[in-house]
Amino acid sequence: MNTLNSISYPIYFENTLTELVKFINQGNYSRFFILTDENTGKYCLPIIRKHIDKLDNFDIIEINAGEESKNIDFCVGVWKMLIDFSADRQSLLINLGGGVISDLGGFVASTYKRGIDFVHVPTTLLSQVDASVGGKTGIDMDNIKNIIGTFTQPKAVFIEQSFLETLPARQILSGLAEMLKHGLICDASYWSQLKNSDLKKPSAELVYKSVEIKNKVVIEDPHEKGIRKSLNFGHTIGHAVETYSLVNDENPLTHGEAIAIGMICEARLSNIKIGLSDADLTEIYETINGLYPKYEIAETCYKTLYNIMLKDKKNQSGKINCTLLTSIGHCSIDNICTEDELCESLRYYSAL
Ligand code: GLY
Repeated sequence: MNTLNSISYPIYFENTLTELVKFINQGNYSRFFILTDENTGKYCLPIIRKHIDKLDNFDIIEINAGEESKNIDFCVGVWKMLIDFSADRQSLLINLGGGVISDLGGFVASTYKRGIDFVHVPTTLLSQVDASVGGKTGIDMDNIKNIIGTFTQPKAVFIEQSFLETLPARQILSGLAEMLKHGLICDASYWSQLKNSDLKKPSAELVYKSVEIKNKVVIEDPHEKGIRKSLNFGHTIGHAVETYSLVNDENPLTHGEAIAIGMICEARLSNIKIGLSDADLTEIYETINGLYPKYEIAETCYKTLYNIMLKDKKNQSGKINCTLLTSIGHCSIDNICTEDELCESLRYYSAL
């Protein structure tokens, strides 16, 4: 698999850990820091350590795993560690983990001393096919996802497939939602290929294809002024459901599980508002419902979900803005949706 070139950095798929060591050695860095959580510290760091053992100018910074860590308090913790370790502007931060580590680590690095270099070594399917590519960094605040952040590109991304082998099935499904989205928004043949594959264990070729699609979009529109909004399909309702679940459920939905719900609801919106055919809508919900568990959303929660959507950073002039589909493989950005329409789509999901 060829290395992909992104906006200003390479995305490696082969010999990734050797490439990482080469990158560190060539970078003239004074020190480097590896940001992990307790899972990646346990399962992935030992693999990396085998490759960097000969280097002695590094330290490990570990935070708690999970979306609950993606906030300013944990940033302060990491900034303090960097200060305590006397990290200078020639330092490098290696983000070893899933989306929380890459988003938070990227944000910490992009603001520490007005910005130090960082790279991502994504360890979940979700972060490999989505969070690690495109330069979005950020944290949550007041239960609003990614509301604080920057666009800052990493210096490189290293996609090591073997990290996926130990992931629980639920985490694979979480990343898969973004892969399905890639097919739905711009590549009908990739969508078909996914549907006909063993999705419990997506192949390296499928992961590569998803990264290729995402990379093409972000190169064209790094700051989400236009076509990058296509990547938000399923995310207006999905983020609201995810936030609601994080606050209210003992065992909250994963990002992908919430986005799967969002994609069904937003496919329904596409059907009623911009002519997505009944056949395409049926194909979408049958495929997604076949993969993801059903989540009960009581009618009494709709107002809360709507209020969460009103705070979405993608809104314009207080109006809720969705990316919708005109057909499988084609999307339309900037569709304003009303409260009634959004609620109807939630009702549609619940009735399936
Ligand atoms: N996760 C969507 C984007 O990177 O634009």
